[in-house]
Amino acid sequence: MIEEIKSMILELCKDKEWDWKAHVESVVKYSKILAKQLNADDEVCELSAWLHDIIKIRDGKRDLHHVNGSEEAVKILEKHDYPKEKIQQVKHCIITHSSDETYIPESIEAKIVASADALSHFDNLLALAHYVFVLKKESVNQCRETLLKKYEKSWKKLLIPEAKEIAKPKYEAIKLILGEQN
Ligand SMILES: [Fe+2]
Ligand SMILES: [Fe+2]
Repeated sequence: MIEEIKSMILELCKDKEWDWKAHVESVVKYSKILAKQLNADDEVCELSAWLHDIIKIRDGKRDLHHVNGSEEAVKILEKHDYPKEKIQQVKHCIITHSSDETYIPESIEAKIVASADALSHFDNLLALAHYVFVLKKESVNQCRETLLKKYEKSWKKLLIPEAKEIAKPKYEAIKLILGEQN
């Protein structure tokens, strides 16, 4: 089932302005690493990672993509006869992955997926820079500031120490490269 969901998501990622494939694959990668380290349900983490941004990828809609995405994931997983209890776990992971404070990650799996989502940004400096420079047309100084803020926010979204451990060298390097004054 994971393979089918993976192919469906990768198909949706094709021909989009943003490199969704790189983002989602990175979220899956970190979800699996953290699930293993923390003895969490790796299947729930992986499925949630593949599906977490489905609405943004498919419909280009950012607002409430975590809420609508969680409902879409339920529909997809029900079609695959996935166990009800596990569907609820995936739903919780997806609805809590964004920074909307109405929905706070409670399960370890949800903390893993939210952290993996933030971790993926640390793999993706050039894509984010491209977004700020080219698509938002910011100046060099604005771009530097926007990126530093973005990475500070991502750092705060790392809810578990194991995730901070993975991101730390990259965060330090990014701050150094972007010239943050200490
Ligand atoms: Fe998202
Ligand atoms: Fe995401």
